[in-house]
Amino acid sequence: MMNTKILGTNKQDIELAGKILSEGGLVAFPTETVYGLGADALNEDAVKNIYKAKGRPSDNPLIVHIAKKEDIVPLVKEVTKEAKAVIDRFFPAPLTIILPKSEKVGSVVSGGLDTVAVRMPQNPIARELIEAAKTPIAAPSANTSGLPSPTKASRVIEDMSGKIDAIIDGGDCEFGVESTVITLATDVPTILRPGAITKEMLEEVLPKVEVAKAVLEGMKNDEVAASPGMKYKHYAPKAKVIIVDADKERYEKFVNSKKDAYALCFEGDNVKIPKVTFGKENDDLSQAKELFDALRKLDDMGAKKVYARIPHKDGVGMAVYNRLIRAAAFCVLDLQKPFTIGLTGQTGAGKGYVGKYLSSLGFNVLDTDVYARKITEKNSPIFPILQKEFGEDIIKNGELQRQVLADRVFKDKEKTKRLNEIMHPAIIELCKENAVFPSVFDAPLLFECGADKLCSVIISVLAPKELRIKRIRERDNITAEQAEIRMNAQKDEEFYKTNSDFTVINDGRDIKSQIDTIMEAF
Ligand code: TXA
Ligand code: MG
Repeated sequence: MMNTKILGTNKQDIELAGKILSEGGLVAFPTETVYGLGADALNEDAVKNIYKAKGRPSDNPLIVHIAKKEDIVPLVKEVTKEAKAVIDRFFPAPLTIILPKSEKVGSVVSGGLDTVAVRMPQNPIARELIEAAKTPIAAPSANTSGLPSPTKASRVIEDMSGKIDAIIDGGDCEFGVESTVITLATDVPTILRPGAITKEMLEEVLPKVEVAKAVLEGMKNDEVAASPGMKYKHYAPKAKVIIVDADKERYEKFVNSKKDAYALCFEGDNVKIPKVTFGKENDDLSQAKELFDALRKLDDMGAKKVYARIPHKDGVGMAVYNRLIRAAAFCVLDLQKPFTIGLTGQTGAGKGYVGKYLSSLGFNVLDTDVYARKITEKNSPIFPILQKEFGEDIIKNGELQRQVLADRVFKDKEKTKRLNEIMHPAIIELCKENAVFPSVFDAPLLFECGADKLCSVIISVLAPKELRIKRIRERDNITAEQAEIRMNAQKDEEFYKTNSDFTVINDGRDIKSQIDTIMEAF
């Protein structure tokens, strides 16, 4: 463990911090966006220590910070016409530009890429520090990799104390989200990470600006990231965060019906469950400033499940949404879409009973087991696909030989997976075709088959294990061991609890009143 000095912003302390950097040490410092974790960008050993202190993957490059506009010249191959226009208009700013790198920039900083990211921070303390170090400073955000970026010195201390030489306490960061990252190394300048300098602002000096698709959407597993940072888990608190796509009233009604959950909402929202706010509804700058610390506060409070109000996506809102959707691992509960309830739960818990009650309330209940049977009826178009995968003899006279297929598939995990990959999309298609809103998808494998993504709300039915064993033994006439095996193949109670919006406990308590309470949220 290192003894980490906590420094102020007086001249003496900045000089000391500059000296530590020039001698190969690590110093965390304030910028107008978030706190950075700096090292001499031209000293590869020092830069390696940044990755170590953060636990950051080595292919995720760092931003090189400069104190004066002209300091970019030795770092890049060429300051292009576009780059010059952007620098002249914006620098110093919460903005990072990417250009092909010069020989001077090592491969540790650039994460092995042939480009380099450069930024001249607006915060005067940051620039004084770079000047004092007399070298460009490589600096990612000063958080442990994967956690929300620090916007206060106290959060840097939490993550970095004992791991780095010094921390300069410069108070709260002004913007609170990291700089806009734009690459000028491609044909059309492209925003890789939105920030306080918006697309509209950049379009004042660039004829065309694109926004990388991954900014607002998740990346597919096989997609190559334009910016390595896009592919990593980010800004994630320990709690599961769910973004609720709803207007103020609907959001309030929804969260106020929750137990054991926390709200991440705007100031002035009428929320009665434990909450943390992040700015004001129509003020994206205030949201940006407070978001990361709000996420960390939720962890301090021990929140397990958090429902966040959706920010708008224009202007700086794009940066806020981009961070929040990553903190939520792209989980958005859409209360705007046609109202669909996903109904699931462990076998024997009493899902059928809940379905019947919902049906009596006017819901159109679709039993996915029925559709599973339907897609394997005589001469189903899915048969040739199954035969190709599992053998010709699984179909005889246009009929599926269920036992033959079962014997061949279920003892082999890979084959089971393949079978599901063929069956599940077909089942989902049928659900979609038959859905009359408001509808309920009654599906024991709701999560496994991906139908949870079609639902606005998910209800899980749970019951104590002994009760479930008793119920399925009576229903299916099987032994206690057989019942146990079936149950162990399913996800556990904790999984259903964290991944559904509501749970119904069927242990003799009144089910109807539990559902009535849930329905009050809509
Ligand atoms: O506001 C900020 O930019 C803060 C403060 C400290 O300046 N720094 C910051 O750095 O956010 P970091 O390392 O947490 O994020 C840098 C992002 C990463 O997503 C990284 O993948 C991307 O910029 N990046 C860096 N160099 C790149 C390059 N050559 N090509 C593409 N993406 C790059
Ligand atoms: Mg970061």
